[in-house]
Formats: sequence, structure tokens, C-alpha cells
Amino acid sequence: MELEGKRVALGVTGGIAAYKAAELTRLLLGQGAAVRVAMSEAATHFVTPTTFQALSGNPVLTDPWDASAAGGMAHIRFSREADVLLIAPASANFLAKAANGIADDLMSTLTLARDCPLLVAPAMNHRMWNSPATRRNVATLTGDAVGVLGPASGGQACGETGEGRMLEPAQIVEELIAHFQPRRLAGKRVLMTAGPTFEAIDPVRGLTNLSSGRMGLAVARAAREAGAEVTLVCGPVSLPSPRGIARIDVTSALEMRAAVMRHVAGQDVFIGVAAVADYRPRIASDQKIKKTGHPPPVIELVENPDILAEVAALPDPPLCVGFAAETRNLAEYAEKKRRAKKIPLIAGNLIGDGFGGETNTLTLFDDDGRHALEPAPKLALARQLVARIAALLENPHAAR
Ligand code: C5P
Repeated sequence: MELEGKRVALGVTGGIAAYKAAELTRLLLGQGAAVRVAMSEAATHFVTPTTFQALSGNPVLTDPWDASAAGGMAHIRFSREADVLLIAPASANFLAKAANGIADDLMSTLTLARDCPLLVAPAMNHRMWNSPATRRNVATLTGDAVGVLGPASGGQACGETGEGRMLEPAQIVEELIAHFQPRRLAGKRVLMTAGPTFEAIDPVRGLTNLSSGRMGLAVARAAREAGAEVTLVCGPVSLPSPRGIARIDVTSALEMRAAVMRHVAGQDVFIGVAAVADYRPRIASDQKIKKTGHPPPVIELVENPDILAEVAALPDPPLCVGFAAETRNLAEYAEKKRRAKKIPLIAGNLIGDGFGGETNTLTLFDDDGRHALEPAPKLALARQLVARIAALLENPHAAR
């Protein structure tokens, strides 16, 4: 439950995406948030207030003149009792009013009267989104520190295709969770690797390993939540990326190294989470190798470059962080790797039943010694790792 104890004021404005706000309400509650809903008059033509009342367990605000609200002034109190005001969907009309301080209906009034952060998830036809007026309004809102979530591109309810679809409810929840995280890496640039690599033997076979990519994707998400600009060089994994990161897909260790070296200039941090294959076949056959009945073929291996060690050896390297997955002697092997690769921080884990799963156990090794983190979901561990990285960036010799 990532939103435990958070109070979300959800404003629903008019647009066909209003139906998705019902699912959004359910997901917010599922993450432990308390949700109060306000609807514009137009929104009530798409979904009824009863839906949101039933889902949120709270009365729904629809009328700016509702004198029956306890203490009156419901539109003023609405955001006073919230940690964030989220408008989803946010129509072009709403964005225009919010950007210009107009307060002539319920939603614009409670937005102007808020004293909590505002996030908006726009939803509109792509021509409306790309119109000069909406561009101006979005720029104004961004300048006013309003979080603009999306929109996405794709098929629209009107039958046209383009930019202007509301983000999916799960993506909005992911953004909201990020909103509540400390911005420890604001303005920093993080380059990282994740997943396995695949070293071709022939067009249909290869050497790889069992990395799911989950830990790397969790680290990417945690770094982005902390405000970093994240570039992820990712081996073959079947999982989707977290939102808001630049992902470069690669297959082999050599491709991974090339992508890392192309992007390493100007990075503040490099995190090697990838399980890079130590060896690759010296020659990859360009035709499928056939069974012959004769003695089986011998595959000659050559060693792959150590990407992390190469980055750490650059003249002005970013802060380099490694991972060490071991089946035994974790502390000894992790420390040895940290020294061999000349990196300040390595996160070690014993490969046990957590392999490929959602949870993990991590121990951090740096100049201060070792620090065992409690077993936890990978995202929680990734956030702790990011906190340690931020502390080291601030003061490379910081004692814990
Ligand atoms: O030496 P070992 O593979 O155990 O070290 C693991 C750490 O080094 C990880 O951070 C991994 O991403 C990185 N690594 C690398 N290139 C390699 C091998 C490992 O960047 N060829």
C-alpha cells in the first residue's frame, strides 16, 4: 500500500475518460488512500455521482452552492482536507480556467482555492491538445508547479488517433505515488543497466541467465521518483518500463557496453544492475547449427568486457554502483568485487527463493562497511539504495 494515510481530492471534469476515473478511484483506495470526489456538471453527464459515492464511501461534491455541506464553503474545504488535488480527466476547458485563475464553477473554484499541490491528467481530442491555446495553458500550469501527467498517444473515443488520451488509471496511480517520494536526486542524471544479456550461438540459440529485470526496473523507477533523469540500457526482459524513463533495448553484452558508452558523458550516477553474461561464443554461426550424429560441436567462449569496471575507469566517472548476486559468501565476494571494480558502493544479495520474485534481501557495502536492509519488496529496497546514492553524491565520504 503505497498511499497509506494520503488524502486524495479527485476532481472529475467532463469528457468520455470520466468513466476511467471510477477505476482510478478504486485503485487509489487499493493503495490505502482516502478519496473524496468532486464532479463538474459536464462530468455528471458521463458518469453519475452515485458511482463515485459508492466507490469512495464519501459524499460527492457536485454543486458549488451546496449549502447543506457541514460548515458551508464545501469548495474551500475540499482541498484543505487533502494532501493532493488530482483532476482526472482534466478537460481543455478546465486547463484553460486553471491556467488563468478563472473561478466560475465548482472545479475551477476549488482549484483556485486549494492549498495543496495540483496534478492534472489531461484528456481531450488531439487537435484540442495541440492547439496553441492549450499549449500556452499547459506551459503556464507547468510554470506554476502544477504536475501534468501525460497525456498518452493512441486511438481516441472520437475515432481519430493522436496525443490526448488520458493516462491509464494504473499509470496515474504510479505518478501519484512518485509525487509523494522525496526528490533526493532532483536534477541528477542516472544511467543504468538491467536485465540479462543474450549471447548468440546461432540465429535461434544463445547463452543467457535467469535475470527477470525486476530489480533493475525497480531501481529505475525509484531513481525517477526521486527526480532523476533516467536512461536505462536494458537486456531482453518481458516487463514494461516504469513511466518517465528513456529505455534503450539491447541484446548482447557488447551492445550493452556500446549503448552505455554512448550515453555515459554528463551522467552523475551509473548503476549496473544487469546480469551481464561473463562469456560469449567466440563465433556466432549465421546459420542454425544442425545435429550431425558426429561428436557434438564445441563452443569456444571469450570473455565479455566488464562494463561497470570500464565506466569506473573513465577519466571523470559518474558515481558507480554495482550489484553482486551470489549463492554464498556474500560479504566476502561483494567486497572483493567492489575493490576489483574500484566502485564506492555495491548492493549484494544472496540468490535464494527471492530470485525473479517481487521481494529481495539486499546488503549495501561501501567505505563505511556493510549495512543489511530488511527483506522487502524490490521497490522499497530500490528506494533505500537511491537514498544511499543521494547521500554519497552529497558527501562521498559520508558516514551513515
Ligand atoms: O563481476 P560480477 O559480474 O559478479 O559483477 C556484478 C556487477 O558488475 C553488476 O553490477 C553488473 O552489472 C556488473 N557487470 C558489468 N559487466 C560485466 C559483468 C558485470 O557491468 N561484464
